[in-house]
Amino acid sequence: MVATAAYLTLLAGYSVRRSARTAHVALSCAAILTDIALVLTLQIQRNAVQTALAFKLSPLQQLHILFSTLALVLYFPTLYLGFRLYLGRAAGARSRLLHVRVATTALVFRSLGFAFMFSLLFKKT
Ligand code: HEM
Repeated sequence: MVATAAYLTLLAGYSVRRSARTAHVALSCAAILTDIALVLTLQIQRNAVQTALAFKLSPLQQLHILFSTLALVLYFPTLYLGFRLYLGRAAGARSRLLHVRVATTALVFRSLGFAFMFSLLFKKT
């Protein structure tokens, strides 16, 4: 449920990227921070990293972990590049293009990770 809320918030942030810059930043940051908090919580409560590294999950479940990890890694440059734009430290088409490319790739990975998450919900064990 938390993952779904975070993903919907990310989509909401994406949908206002042109019309409402500040809302884009606020919604995207809220979604990204929720995702990071979720991973930390899963790690503390369920040793998520050890489970992933044990490679005992099904291929679909491993794809969920792969895509979610890639999204998580890209969140950090997304935040950095986004804040540089927002705070006016990096104006210009190149900085904007870099943010767009990195952030959109993160969103694609997050979408794939979200889709494959359902393989974990319906696992037999
Ligand atoms: C995965 C999450 C994100 C995605 C997919 C994303 C995507 C985008 C896209 C496609 C644009 C270009 C909008 C246009 O065509 O005009 C944009 C603009 C922008 N984004 Fe993000 N973004 C994300 C997260 C963030 C975050 C976390 C921040 C700030 C910390 C941020 C700050 C900005 C700013 C300031 C602009 C306006 C740039 C300008 O035109 O001057 N974004 N974003």
